[in-house]
Amino acid sequence: MSRIIVHAEHPLNKISKNIYGHFSEHLGHCIYGGIYVGEESEIANVNGIRTDVVEALRHIRVPVLRWPGGCFADEYHWKDGIGPKRKRKKMVNSNWGGLVEDNSFGTHEFLELCRQVGCEPYINGNLGSGTVREMSEWVEYLTFPGRSPLTRLRMRNGREQPWKIKFFGIGNESWGGGGNMRPEYYSDLFRRYQTYLKDFGGNKLFKIASGPNEEDYRWTDTVMKLTGPYMDAIALHYYTVPGDFNNVKGSALDFTEAEYYTTLKKALKMERLIEKHTQIMDRYDPSHRVALIVDEWGTWYDAELGANPQFLFQQNSMRDALVAALTLNIFNRHSDRVRMANIAQMVNVLQSVILTEGKKMVLTPTYCIYDLFQAHQDAALIDSDVQTKEVGTQGAMIPQISVSASRNEAGELNLTIVNTSLDETDLAECRILGWEAGRVTASILTDDSHAYNSFASPDTVKIRAFDRLTVKKGEITAEIPPCSVVRIKTAC
Ligand code: AHR
Repeated sequence: MSRIIVHAEHPLNKISKNIYGHFSEHLGHCIYGGIYVGEESEIANVNGIRTDVVEALRHIRVPVLRWPGGCFADEYHWKDGIGPKRKRKKMVNSNWGGLVEDNSFGTHEFLELCRQVGCEPYINGNLGSGTVREMSEWVEYLTFPGRSPLTRLRMRNGREQPWKIKFFGIGNESWGGGGNMRPEYYSDLFRRYQTYLKDFGGNKLFKIASGPNEEDYRWTDTVMKLTGPYMDAIALHYYTVPGDFNNVKGSALDFTEAEYYTTLKKALKMERLIEKHTQIMDRYDPSHRVALIVDEWGTWYDAELGANPQFLFQQNSMRDALVAALTLNIFNRHSDRVRMANIAQMVNVLQSVILTEGKKMVLTPTYCIYDLFQAHQDAALIDSDVQTKEVGTQGAMIPQISVSASRNEAGELNLTIVNTSLDETDLAECRILGWEAGRVTASILTDDSHAYNSFASPDTVKIRAFDRLTVKKGEITAEIPPCSVVRIKTAC
């Protein structure tokens, strides 16, 4: 039995909808096949972009999308991806399988994707192998409203008006694949590059620094100290790997009970990372002007047998749904500092919300979590305290219940509750302070931890109505089944 106290009478900061953001890279079948099929494809598309995928993404109200990488960003030269497609320069995608990239999906296609999805673009510039001039010219091409050689080129390529671009990243994983830099050197480069990224015609860039890998606190400390005033955000990366990243990571579907709990325990590490990086940021930025964004996160398993290991395709089970729900609850609770997060990656790569195979598409259990949690987008965070016991296996004990709560402008209170236990139902008593009992509705995602949606059986795991709850003044008691995520909605 768990006790949850919800302080509905004290709404806190806004939970930025951008916490529900996504990431798309030129990697495997994320872009090509998963999103972009070309105008001549037999797969239904608008301007080459899959209609089924766009509809699914609109349904979960994707707020922001990062592109073109990842590692790919630091070898991407944007001018190769504009103009007539047959003339576009090809390149070798050396990070992801050494395939020849034909650049048929470039700046215009990405911004068309964002238009169709209804989300904000987040463009990651090339610091690793690109020049200052190249990066500054990209911003001019995108956003300058006047006539210049670059904007004339943009117009010839079919775009008369400048785009509004807010989110702009300067390098990716600059401590590793993005240049193997020291934080001192990166900081100097960041200061230099950002100088030439101008705000044209009312456009205001939000400049994002390449941040730490996991527990690299020295990176955060140094970059905050040396570049804090020049940046708007610093980007943390953390992946949940059940095993060893450099050896056996673990299988997406074939896992033991111990591996299940280990995976969730590792996912929960996100909270400690956020708290520690935030403490460092607080020293240099006590007013919380600079955001911590987590622009790569999610599960990372061994590649599926038979699949190209460089394509990072993995199935997605209820275990992944729980990882997503636990992580999003953490982001919500730390949303005063965490103002964007981008799950890796949107389609067909790592912890995807969508998988495709030719014409077929499935929505993963992780997709269902984004559907359940969309109620938190831009709502006010509500503080919640949880008393719950630990469950798990030796070496991997974790709290049974995780919660976050918010209150939206319509006065609705939404609680998202995760029961991590594989076999125990939890009788959760939620006391909601400052709330009179009103209409309560609830939805649930639950199944065996190994359950997943396949192309042959796409609706195995899906959201259902949930009615195992009783309501009395100020209190809701819910019987939360094992391995489940419940969203309770009530007027407040
Ligand atoms: O998401 C896959 C890769 O993981 C990204 O390209 C890189 O930034 C990270 O190491």
